[in-house]
Amino acid sequence: MEQPNTKPATPQTASRNDALFERAKKLIPGGVNSPVRAFKAVGGTPRFVQRAQGAYFWDADGKRYIDYIGSWGPMILGHGHPAVLEAVQKAALEGFSYGAPTEREVELAEEIVRLVPSLEMVRLVSSGTEAAMSAIRLARGATGRSKIIKFEGCYHGHADALLVKAGSGLATFGNPTSAGVPPEVVQHTLVLEYNHLAQLEEAFALHGKDIACLMIEPIAGNMNFVRASVPFMKRCRELCTQHGALLVFDEVMTGFRVALGGAQSVYARSIPGFKPDMTVMGKVIGGGMPLAAFGGTRAVMEQLAPLGPVYQAGTLSGNPVATACGLATLREIAKPGFYEALGERTRSLVAGLTQAANKAGVPFCGDSEGGMFGFFLLGQLPQNYATVMTTDSPAFNRFFHAMLDSGVYYAPALYEAAFVSSAHTAADIETTVDAAAKFFAAA
Ligand SMILES: Cc1ncc(COP(=O)(O)O)c(C=O)c1O
Repeated sequence: MEQPNTKPATPQTASRNDALFERAKKLIPGGVNSPVRAFKAVGGTPRFVQRAQGAYFWDADGKRYIDYIGSWGPMILGHGHPAVLEAVQKAALEGFSYGAPTEREVELAEEIVRLVPSLEMVRLVSSGTEAAMSAIRLARGATGRSKIIKFEGCYHGHADALLVKAGSGLATFGNPTSAGVPPEVVQHTLVLEYNHLAQLEEAFALHGKDIACLMIEPIAGNMNFVRASVPFMKRCRELCTQHGALLVFDEVMTGFRVALGGAQSVYARSIPGFKPDMTVMGKVIGGGMPLAAFGGTRAVMEQLAPLGPVYQAGTLSGNPVATACGLATLREIAKPGFYEALGERTRSLVAGLTQAANKAGVPFCGDSEGGMFGFFLLGQLPQNYATVMTTDSPAFNRFFHAMLDSGVYYAPALYEAAFVSSAHTAADIETTVDAAAKFFAAA
C-alpha cells in the first residue's frame, strides 16, 4: 500500500484575474458588463483592473500594463490627472446629483460650443449610445422624414435602429445584427459601404427625398482606423445639402481626441468651410465619467423638448460630478501645444511599430490622427469594413497576447482603434516597440 502523501501540496500561485473572472461569470453574463472586455475574440482571461495612474494600470495580480485603451478613449490625459482629480473631488463633496440645472452644465456647454464651430447648441446626456439615438430622433423630427443612412463597420452605440447590417441591395433596407431587434425597427436604415462613392450616389438618387440623416464616423474607430476619404466626405456633405438631409458626425470617439475641433476640423483643412449639421460626442468630453452630448445648429436643436416636439430626457443628464470631470479635462486639452505633442507621440509609436514589422518582413501598416491610432497586419491601409476583416485574425491574436505578456495592453479585437494619452512617455513608446519587435522577429 502506498504511503499517504503527508506533505502539504505546494501552493499554486493562483491568478486573481482567473478567480475574479470565475466569480464574475456566475453573476454577470460572460463575466463582463460590456462584451469586448471578455477577450472573446482573442481568448484568455480578461485583466481585472485594480488601479490606474498616468499611462498605466495594474491588474488584480499586481502586474503593470502600458494602457493603449484608456477606457476606450476617454482618458486622453492618462489616469488620475491632478487637475481632473481635484475638480472631481471638489464636485463630489458638493453633491452627486440634483435633477436640477447647475452652472457647471452651462460652463461645459459653453466650452464645447466654443471649441467646435459647427455647434450652436448642445444637450448633455450620459452615454454615446444615448447621444446617437437622440440625434437620430431629432434628425427625423426636424426633417419629418424616416430613413437614415449608416455605413458598414461604423458603430454608433446599441440603439435598435443602428444594430443593422446591409440588406441585399440599395433598394432594400438593412437586417438586424442582434437578436431582439425586429426587422421592422431597422426597415428605415440603409447600410452602405464606407468610402463607396457610387453606392452613396445611388442611395441618394433612389431615396434622397426620404432621408432624414446620414450618420458617419468620420474616422472610423470601430473598424480599427479607417478614414473617410476627402472626396467621399465632400460628396456626403454635398448630397445631404442637395437632398435636405442632415449630415450627422458621430464624434464619440474622434471628438477632442484627434484634434481640439474633432475630426470635422481635420476635414475642414481639406474642404474649405466644411461643417456637419449635427455632432454626437462622448468619451473625452466626460474625461472618464458617464457623459456624452449631441448638438448642432440652433434651428435643429430648438426642435428638442421642452422647446420643440422631439422628446428627449435623462435623470442623470449633465450630472454635476461628470461635468466637473469633463470640464477639467477640456481645459487641460485646450492648452497650447497639447495636440501637437500628443500627435507627435502617437506618430512615433505607429512609425516604430511599422519599422519593427518591416524589418522582420511582416505585412503591417498603420495610421493615426492626434491621439488615436490603428494598425493592420496588412500591406495596405483598408478603405472599408470588408477589407479590415481580411486581417489574419489568429496572427493578430498572437500579437495581442505577446504584447499582453510583455505588459502592453492593446485592444482585444482587431477591429478596434487604440489611444495614446498625454501621460505616455517616449520610454513607454520604446518599451512598446521593443516588445512588438521581439514578437515580429519570432513570427
Ligand atoms: C463612434 C461611437 N459612437 C457611439 C458609441 C457608443 O458610446 P457608449 O459606449 O458611450 O454608449 C461608441 C462607443 O464606443 C463609439 O465608438
